[in-house]
Amino acid sequence: MTSIDALFSAARAAQTRAHTPYSRFPVGAALRDEAGRIHAGCNVENAAYPQGACAETGAISAMVLAGGRRIAEMLVVGEGEALVTPCGGCRQRIREFASPDTPVHVAGPEGVRRTLRLDELLPFSFGPDNLGATTRGAA
Ligand code: THU
Repeated sequence: MTSIDALFSAARAAQTRAHTPYSRFPVGAALRDEAGRIHAGCNVENAAYPQGACAETGAISAMVLAGGRRIAEMLVVGEGEALVTPCGGCRQRIREFASPDTPVHVAGPEGVRRTLRLDELLPFSFGPDNLGATTRGAA
């Protein structure tokens, strides 16, 4: 199994767990961390709509909880014809733990449709480097 296949199957499995009573638009995300471990997430909506969380956010939380600190590669899968690219907020969340050249695979049910670098999704981004080493805590 290639690393993309492993990410795709983890994201598809996560997608089946999505809580989407409002949009009926389940999304799954999976990422590979610096140690090669895969972490997945699904979208979790809320009756108070703005409190819903995207699949990418869940995958990043799972990585951090497991001790991972870098995103080496990420995949997002959703339904429909259109590319399910990460929303603006999630692009910034990914940015926190990834590099400009980190690949983000955008998939439909049949497989990967397009692979974009993070700096294509979020050019001229603001990130940890802007704040400088002295303001960055170890935690
Ligand atoms: N959604 C994600 O989880 N990730 C994306 O990349 C795009 C959108 C979710 C948010 C919401 O629960 C539903 O899809 C419809 O916007």
